[in-house]
Amino acid sequence: MKQKHYVIGNWKLYLDREKSIEHAIAIEKNKSIVSSDALEIVVCPSHVNLDKISGINKSVSLGAQDCGFENSGAHTGQVSPDDLVSIGCEYVIIGHSERRYQLGETDDVINRKIIAALKSGLVPIVCFGETFEANEKGISGEFVKNQIKSAFEGVSLEDNQRVIVAYEPVWAIYPSKHVVTTQHVHEMVEIIHKTCSPVLGGAYSYCVVYGGSVTGENVANFIDLPGINGVLPGHASTDSSEFAKIIAIVNDML
Ligand code: 13P
Repeated sequence: MKQKHYVIGNWKLYLDREKSIEHAIAIEKNKSIVSSDALEIVVCPSHVNLDKISGINKSVSLGAQDCGFENSGAHTGQVSPDDLVSIGCEYVIIGHSERRYQLGETDDVINRKIIAALKSGLVPIVCFGETFEANEKGISGEFVKNQIKSAFEGVSLEDNQRVIVAYEPVWAIYPSKHVVTTQHVHEMVEIIHKTCSPVLGGAYSYCVVYGGSVTGENVANFIDLPGINGVLPGHASTDSSEFAKIIAIVNDML
C-alpha cells in the first residue's frame, strides 16, 4: 500500500474572520481542491474561525493550530481537544516553532498536548525544527533529535492512531529570506525517520511532511525527496490560487 500524501495549510494569524470565510469559500468552489485516497488536504484556520470554516469546507479536512492538554477543569484559555473533534477537526498542529519561541511553549507541554490529542482521536501534526543558531553551529540533527525524543516520551501509538511529523527549520519559515537546500532537508528527514521509527513504530503509524516557505515554485523539490509525504505551507496556503497550484503539483507527482 502506498502511503498517503498531505498538503496541510496553516493559515496562522494571516486571515481575519471575513478573509477566512472568503478563502474557505474560494477553496470549496475550486473543484481541483478535493481530498482523495492518495492526497489528503487539510486547512488549519485560527481557533475562533474553526467552527465557521467547518461548515463551509466539505471537500477538505479541518485541523486546529493548537490544543490544550486537558478537556476540562481549571485551565483558562486552553482549548479542549474533545471540543475540537466535536466541531469537525480531525487534525491538530502541536509544537509549532511560533508557539515554542513566541510563547515559550516547552517540550513538556508539547508532550502533554500530543497525549491529549491522541486520546481525543485527533491526528497530531507535530512540528520540529532547528533554530538559525543551531543550524549555524552545525548541530541541527542533535537539536531536532532531542525535540523528538522529548515530544514523544511515553507516547505509544495504538493501531488506529497516527502522527504526522512536520520538519520545519525555524530559519526558513516565511518571512525569513533564508533558503533551505533540498540536501539539508534530505539529511534532516533521514535523521527524523531514524529517530521516529523506533519510537512511533512502523511506517504506517507516522509520516513526515516539510514546512518552511513552501510555494508553487518550490514544492516539487520537497515532494521529490525520499521519506517526505507532503508539505505544510503557511503563508502560501492563505492565497487560494497559490494553494491550488501547490495541490495541483503534488497531485501530478503522486
Ligand atoms: P511558511 O510557509 O509561511 O514559511 O510557514 C511554514 C509553517 O510554519 C507552517 O506551519
